[in-house]
Amino acid sequence: MTPLLPRKILVTSALPYANGAIHLGHLVEYIQTDIWVRFQKMRGHVCHYVCADDTHGTPIMLRAEKEGITPERLIARVHGEHLRDFAGFHVAFDNYHSTNAEENRIHAEAIYEKLKSVGLIETRTIEQFYDPVKAMFLPDRFIKGECPKCGAKDQYGDACEVCGSVYAPTDLKNPYSAVSGAQPELRDSEHFFFKLSDPRCETFLREWTRGGTLQQEAANKMQEWLGEQGDNKLSNWDISRDAPYFGFKIPGTTDKFFYVWLDAPVGYMGSFQNLADRLGLDFGDYWQQGAGTELYHFIGKDILSFHALFWPAMLKFSGHRTPTGIFAHGFLTVDGAKMSKSRGTFITAESYLATGLNPEWLPYYFAAKLNGSMEDIDLN
Ligand code: 2FM
Ligand code: ZN
Repeated sequence: MTPLLPRKILVTSALPYANGAIHLGHLVEYIQTDIWVRFQKMRGHVCHYVCADDTHGTPIMLRAEKEGITPERLIARVHGEHLRDFAGFHVAFDNYHSTNAEENRIHAEAIYEKLKSVGLIETRTIEQFYDPVKAMFLPDRFIKGECPKCGAKDQYGDACEVCGSVYAPTDLKNPYSAVSGAQPELRDSEHFFFKLSDPRCETFLREWTRGGTLQQEAANKMQEWLGEQGDNKLSNWDISRDAPYFGFKIPGTTDKFFYVWLDAPVGYMGSFQNLADRLGLDFGDYWQQGAGTELYHFIGKDILSFHALFWPAMLKFSGHRTPTGIFAHGFLTVDGAKMSKSRGTFITAESYLATGLNPEWLPYYFAAKLNGSMEDIDLN
């Protein structure tokens, strides 16, 4: 039965990075969202499904360099590959854009400026590892060394894959740059932070995370991150990176860029702006404060903090609406284990399609196994 007044719904899936192929793990989410969107449309609601490639950051910059092409060329090529793969599985986006787009720059800058004007941005000098050969600051994933706990060699700067301990890159023994092999040195740099520890953010997030927007398990996780009332555990979030970096320059600076995770969720807005401009839709209808429309984000459980803490706070304090709901799903395992290239269980969308298997079998299979929880699902 079609309702008298159709609901107006904007739906997103997480934006895949523009430096890798779409694999079956990704497809869980796009298929889940696609089914949900098709259902809403069949019920007669107005429903827009938008997505984009997540194009910024150090890994994409280095990958392009390795291939001897510009980041722009790399992301253009991958955009085509991603679109081909999604089409192969009939994922019916209403728009598939890119975060490296003017619409996204405009919204990212506007959000930043607004947060700054309400006193929620601070700058602070921090000490970080710097690669003197490559002349760049190194993200944690690009620093390797010996685990400070168990001594295992060649461990990443954030956690040990052998003993599971978590640490800061500065704790590593004999650290080296995974980019050039050089011994990194500690250098000072001024960074920009979103003041999540501000009482306004804490009060808002405590209320918002309990307001029915999250699955129960996700809400519980948020309480863990927020800590007890009166004992705010949130620390300020570093939203800047130093040049060289592939991304958007922070207004008013010459060599500071927005961290990829700042402009990635804004990419949902950018993609919708692009669609709205093409179809003559009202952007504010879906994004302004108090909008009577609905906004849902489908994500994996690994990126919950970005969507249930940072993003709603960014939206709220820049004068936008906040999401109606966030639906987090679990990971896809194959034969009970993490997908693995060496075991031959890392299956890309392209390789599945190349076998000639009917692409509709996969949505059917995932649909039969998926539910509304964050539990992992197994392909076997
Ligand atoms: O985890 C990832 O693959 C990110 N590229 C997801 C970004 S989602 C959104 F915030 F843009
Ligand atoms: Zn270890």
